[in-house]
Amino acid sequence: MGVLEAQIPSSWSPHAIEQAYAQSGTIALVALVSEQTIGGWLCGRYASDEAELFKVTVDASLRRKGIAQLLIADFCQRLVRTGVKALYLEVRSHNLPARRLYEKLGFCGIGQRSGYYRNPDDDACLLMRELLP
Ligand SMILES: CC(C)(COP(=O)(O)OP(=O)(O)OC[C@H]1O[C@@H](n2cnc3c(N)ncnc32)[C@H](O)[C@@H]1OP(=O)(O)O)[C@@H](O)C(=O)NCCC(=O)NCCS
Repeated sequence: MGVLEAQIPSSWSPHAIEQAYAQSGTIALVALVSEQTIGGWLCGRYASDEAELFKVTVDASLRRKGIAQLLIADFCQRLVRTGVKALYLEVRSHNLPARRLYEKLGFCGIGQRSGYYRNPDDDACLLMRELLP
C-alpha cells in the first residue's frame, strides 16, 4: 500500500496505515490484479449506523478500469451487512477524477470546508451516500 500512497497528495505514511488498521470498525480492502500486484486499496471505518471512507487509491497505471468502483461497491455491501445506513467522505475540491467517481456512485454534496487541505492547499467537499439494504 505504501507504494500506492507514495503516488498521491495527502498520502498516508506506513505508520498512519498501521494506526488505521488498529482501530475497531476499520475495514481495509485490497484489489489484487495478480498474485503479487496490488492494483488498489480502500480504507474506511464504521461506528454504529454511520461510516466514513478515508481512502481509495488505485495504481496510476491501472486507473479507469473500474477498480475503485469495485472496491467501493464491496465496501458498501459489507457496511450494509453490519447495519450501516450512511457513508460519509471528504475529497479535495480540485480532485476531479475522485469527484466524478463519487458522483457516479451516488454520493451527494452536503458541505464544504475552506482551506482544509495542505500540500497543495485546497478546500474539502463533504459528501454522503445513503446505504439501502
Ligand atoms: C480517484 C481514483 C481512486 C479512481 O480510481 P479508478 O479505478 O481509476 O476509477 P474507476 O475506473 O473505478 O472509475 C469509475 C468512474 O469514476 C469516474 N472517473 C474516474 N477517473 C476519472 C477521471 N480521470 N476523469 C473523469 N472521471 C473519472 C468515471 O465516472 C468512471 O467511470 P467510467 O470509467 O465508466 O467513465 C484514482 O484516480 C486514484 O487513485 N486517484 C488518486 C487517489 C485519490 O484521489 N483518491 C480519492 C480521494 S481519497
